[in-house]
Amino acid sequence: MTRTIHSGRYPATRLRRTRMTEWSRAMIAETRLAPSDFIWPLFIIEGKNVTEPVASMPGVERLSIDRAVAAAKEARALGIPAIALFPRTDEALKSDRGDEACNPDNLVCRATRAIKDAVPEIGVLCDVALDPYTTHGHDGIVENGIVLNDRTVEVLVCQAVAAARAGADMVAPSDMMDGRIGAVRAALESEGLTDTMVISYAAKYASAFYGPFRDAVGAGKKLGGAGKKTYQMDPANSDEALREVAQDIEEGADMVIVKPALPYLDIIRRVAETFALPVIAYNVSGEYSMLMAAFEKGWLDRDIAVMESLLCQKRAGASAILTYFAREAAQKLQV
Ligand code: PBG
Repeated sequence: MTRTIHSGRYPATRLRRTRMTEWSRAMIAETRLAPSDFIWPLFIIEGKNVTEPVASMPGVERLSIDRAVAAAKEARALGIPAIALFPRTDEALKSDRGDEACNPDNLVCRATRAIKDAVPEIGVLCDVALDPYTTHGHDGIVENGIVLNDRTVEVLVCQAVAAARAGADMVAPSDMMDGRIGAVRAALESEGLTDTMVISYAAKYASAFYGPFRDAVGAGKKLGGAGKKTYQMDPANSDEALREVAQDIEEGADMVIVKPALPYLDIIRRVAETFALPVIAYNVSGEYSMLMAAFEKGWLDRDIAVMESLLCQKRAGASAILTYFAREAAQKLQV
């Protein structure tokens, strides 16, 4: 829709008029938040009735499966439509090739089954990437220091099928290998899992803002050299994000994720304006922890800053937001 801006001339037009009262501001707000905007990421651990704080993410805990089921019920009651599950895999189960990713009884598959059993109405998203399962912490299979694309895709495909069979409504490849969306879609089709959505982390940048997450899933600090720069995107690029999205749409992505969110609002906006499909913003761990650190110091007003930062992601064009603030924001939005 192309519109012409008629700003009018002062004093006949005083743009402050409509801002003067609460009711008027509410009436003309161009963007609104609702609990249905959020996807709540949960970190899963082994055990019963246990929670474990994540040191670098104040207020976030890893949850045993029973606790995750309780969180899913809470999310449902708050009107949050979906949760995303991230396993903290036992070191003993990690390997060079990340084979545990394909185990139909791995932690995330068991969590998915338990949650879908107890709260079938909630959407479950499972991340597809090897980093929770590899000893080296890369998202794929490494040979001679190189993350191998096509061999990694083969493992991602079996990981995605395992998650979908366990009941995941959405499988979300976050690995940035080329061609994985098409390969995952084809495998789901041939397995009869035709209703499982593929949510592509299409524009995922090699970002410092994932640091606290890597701590949460125990995939931290091991990466040397180029880190994930040979597969995740260069923060300098924006046209390339559009190529990634275009390719993933061709390959069958149902929605795409832009990640991180707040330093990349321009990318969210470009993707939303260029393509007619849902764009999800991933408000990542570092963005969460940065705000939490400022709240702890008393430097920012939490009540205002959390909602403002989420609203801005939606204004940029996000259809939904993956955020560690999902519960808090949904609580504030209860009517
Ligand atoms: C796994 C994955 C990562 C995140 C989501 N899925 C980490 C990474 O790519 O290194 C980051 C999420 C966050 O920081 O909140 N590939």
